[in-house]
Amino acid sequence: MTNEGSAQTLLILGASGDLTARLLLPGLGALLAARNAPAVTLVGAGMDDWDEARWRQRVTDAFAGHGTAAPAARVIAQTRYARADVTRADDLRQLLSGADRPVIFFALPPAVTAKACEALLDVRLPEGTRLVLEKPFGTGTSSAAALNRLLTRLVPEDRVHRVDHFLGKSTVLNLVGLRFANRIFEPLLNAEHVESVDIVFDESLALEGRAGYYDRAGALADMIQSHLLQILALLTMESPLSLDPQEFRDATADVLRATRLWGGDPKTASLRARYTAGELGGLQLPGYAQEPGVDPARGTETLAEMVLAVDTWRWAGVPFRLRSGKAVGRSRKEAVITFKEPPRMPAGLHGHGEADRLRISFGPDRLALDFNINGPADPFVLDPVTLEAEFGPGDLPPYGEVLRGVFEDDPLLSVRGDTAEQCWRIVEPVTAAWRDGQVPLLEYPAGSAGPAESLLSPTRTDG
Ligand code: BG6
Repeated sequence: MTNEGSAQTLLILGASGDLTARLLLPGLGALLAARNAPAVTLVGAGMDDWDEARWRQRVTDAFAGHGTAAPAARVIAQTRYARADVTRADDLRQLLSGADRPVIFFALPPAVTAKACEALLDVRLPEGTRLVLEKPFGTGTSSAAALNRLLTRLVPEDRVHRVDHFLGKSTVLNLVGLRFANRIFEPLLNAEHVESVDIVFDESLALEGRAGYYDRAGALADMIQSHLLQILALLTMESPLSLDPQEFRDATADVLRATRLWGGDPKTASLRARYTAGELGGLQLPGYAQEPGVDPARGTETLAEMVLAVDTWRWAGVPFRLRSGKAVGRSRKEAVITFKEPPRMPAGLHGHGEADRLRISFGPDRLALDFNINGPADPFVLDPVTLEAEFGPGDLPPYGEVLRGVFEDDPLLSVRGDTAEQCWRIVEPVTAAWRDGQVPLLEYPAGSAGPAESLLSPTRTDG
């Protein structure tokens, strides 16, 4: 079933680029195959001189994984591509003429996005226009603030969707259910009982031909400043009154405002590294610096770690270690909450070796609780055990989920403007110290576990 009636126009600026092909169109395809798919008219625009057939093929390929639902077939049949300079008001006016309640998606580098927004100031935007921006949102606090000011001259804040597809991952929203729909975890999630929290997203994927974007971003901006800080916010926020966008985003904004570098010294609270040549999954990978399109002099990190403090009554004194790396031998995507040791053990019990841990994995979506019980054989000896549960997959892939929010005018899963600025404020002491060379750029072979100097605690995780 579709929401027939007035089709909303999805206008993609930067339609011939990588982001459109990798994430946006497949996400749209999934959304169109789902129940209650929105009625959409798709228009692609970009600098490349593509003809309609080439664009239609791109859309068809991207939708292919989701069958041939009627709404998707209709979008493919009706879509068009326009060659345009999206930083020119005349071109944008042309693209928007006749568009109904358009969703303008900026699939562009930050500098071009800012220029396109400036050009839009001279265009009369149709009623109900929404603006969708991908990361990186600006390049630092002040450019994010400037972009925010510009955007709110175009449309109200609730119509600006700063997309973070991690917010569409069902596991991440499951965190809210896990924490606030159960009596047994929440009373323990505070500094009295928690020793530390690690949020890790290590991928075995390497650069995948994305040098044009990644070499200017690096692991800190690509993953920590965006996705992992959102996970941190969901893990640490107080219970929102409801999942109303204002209540929910107020709650995440509160904890992010309280978040800062642990101890204030980037030399001890951050680490950066990049991979050298190595073997991964039976394949020989070149070092990052040798990848086509990479400028080794830029010193871009492919693995970043950062230790943070969430300075609230609940969390003061608990280190949060965030890490993300590419070309790491073992992919590991999880948040691990390590609990403090019990205050004392009855004399006579033996074998207690491991702290209790709650582990939430992001793909496969799983929950595991590690703790100690009296094991088989000698009942005086404790053994570590793990209770596990699967989170069911969501109806939609993450990108489909965030796009649904855009089409339904629901900003719940979008990053609010003030939060986007806070996320830069949190990482800026580190980026400044890295730029000044205060923190060395370490190396690790592709396929290894990353640099030995890691700031993370060793873990018994095997997932
Ligand atoms: C993207 C990053 O936002 O997230 C990529 O740019 C990363 O570098 C990806 O690989 C990870 O998310 P997912 O959902 O593909 O595992």
